[in-house]
Amino acid sequence: MKSVQQPSLRCHYFAIFLIQTLVALVLFGYNRISNNHIINTVSIETNCTNSSPISKNVVVLLWTWPFGAQFPLDKCPKPFDSPRCLLTADRSLYNTANAVIFHHRDVCGSKDQMPQMPRPEGQYWVWYNLESPSHSPNLHFMDKLINLTMSYRIDSDIFTPYGWLEQNEVAINYTIPEKSKLAAWLVSNWNRNSKRVQFYEDLKNYIPIDIYGRQHIPLATEQTISVVSKYKFYLSFENSIHTDYVTEKLWRNAFVSGSVPVVLGPTRENYERFIPSDSFIHVDDFPSAKELASYLLELDKNDQKYQEYFKWRSKLRPVTEFTWIVHYCKACVELHNAPSYRTASSLGKWFT
Ligand SMILES: *[C@@H]1O[C@H](CO)[C@@H](O)[C@H](O)[C@H]1NC(C)=O
Ligand SMILES: *[C@@H]1O[C@H](CO)[C@@H](O)[C@H](O)[C@H]1NC(C)=O
Repeated sequence: MKSVQQPSLRCHYFAIFLIQTLVALVLFGYNRISNNHIINTVSIETNCTNSSPISKNVVVLLWTWPFGAQFPLDKCPKPFDSPRCLLTADRSLYNTANAVIFHHRDVCGSKDQMPQMPRPEGQYWVWYNLESPSHSPNLHFMDKLINLTMSYRIDSDIFTPYGWLEQNEVAINYTIPEKSKLAAWLVSNWNRNSKRVQFYEDLKNYIPIDIYGRQHIPLATEQTISVVSKYKFYLSFENSIHTDYVTEKLWRNAFVSGSVPVVLGPTRENYERFIPSDSFIHVDDFPSAKELASYLLELDKNDQKYQEYFKWRSKLRPVTEFTWIVHYCKACVELHNAPSYRTASSLGKWFT
């Protein structure tokens, strides 16, 4: 499974503004910058000559609509709006498609859900998944079929995260939303035996926590941001613990709301691949829920100390424009630089 773990196929280059380069094609890439956070920067592709087997238009077939959700495929938002991309969900184009994207949860029910006809020469089969391994059954169905991976894992061929940070052009003064409450958690899937519910049960003995979601205080999706923004802390507790599995629970519910995330998920070190160390509180930083609770109460009384958790926002801002179309458009753009041969022999060994 070495093949899947190699650095992804996107070319790494820094933006060089070549105004007079007529052939330049504006692409978007996730470039690692010095502080190791993943930042979106606009890059100019001049000559990525070392790879680029597909120089013509790329036809990408969505084998299924993800979870059945349909949306227009002809409107790729900037900066993924390459004129050389054609996205389609029309299976009659199978034989002409350069790549076929399989959304795991739509095809993992049975092997019959994968194409039964031969694969045209050179066609990439792309495995797309945003769920964690705990919720991704039958990975072995994909053995010896898949060429490229597309997921929230940084080491995917096509990296499709739930959110990322962008750099502010000039430093800004972020205004912390007004706070009137201490801690909130929005949870739709209440599993009594999960680590996160057990941790919550312990934590709630020491501090008040408002729970929103199914079986709790109702909260419409459009209201999440405004409601959560009134809380000093938001419990960004992931439903399962896996490498790089950091979801909208951090990016949207906490960061976009302007609430300080208390995270339960992969290690602190893993979070720090994505976000600054002083932007969040990790449950593992404390020996017990009780000690975490007393730290939160301490911050509640000390505005200056609480505000330290927002310092990073002068330079960086969270982006969480996760929509299906953005991911498919990004895939198409990156496919222009896919290696001519690649295979992921066993996803199950890597996606854990
Ligand atoms: C931000 O706030 C500081 C201190 O209040 C002030 O000196 C600075 O000019 C402000 N910067 C901007 C961009 O508003
Ligand atoms: C894709 O993977 C399959 C299965 O390993 C392989 O037969 C095919 O040649 C690969 N295609 C490309 C374009 O890498």
